Amino acid sequence: AVTRTFSIIKPDATRRNLTGAVTKMLEEAGLRVVASKRIHMTREQAEGFYAVHKERPFFGELVDFMISEPVVVQVLEGEDAVQKNRDVMGATNPADAAEGTIRKTHALSIGENSVHGSDSDENAAIEIRHFFNDDEIVG
Ligand code: CMP
Repeated sequence: AVTRTFSIIKPDATRRNLTGAVTKMLEEAGLRVVASKRIHMTREQAEGFYAVHKERPFFGELVDFMISEPVVVQVLEGEDAVQKNRDVMGATNPADAAEGTIRKTHALSIGENSVHGSDSDENAAIEIRHFFNDDEIVG
């Protein structure tokens, strides 16, 4: 089925002017950008978005990183979008990511790993709502 997922191009990628390069890889994987905006997340936004990780030892570092510079938040649409996006992103740790994936190609470390993607349809819906109104998504 054609579904949607939520993506973030993270500060390590925007800083290196890789917004287009990353988006091209998403598009070539069969995903369509149906919403996109460049934002500088507030601490409150980042803490809310990553609330599920708040007990993790890297939470503070993760939030600091995500608010360090602008990010690009996107809604991606395609056949089985969550899985398609996860496949093209590659493993969380770029050292474990497969050849040809975004993280293998561009990520710097497990924290500075260039992209975020939703891990389920349910979380995709929650994450999309965190950053986009319905009228900002044009399919
Ligand atoms: P993301 O998909 O955005 O969701 C949670 C993020 O936590 C994950 O990508 C990683 O970038 C980050 N993360 C996971 N493990 C670590 C770690 N050990 N140190 C720093 N960041 C981490």
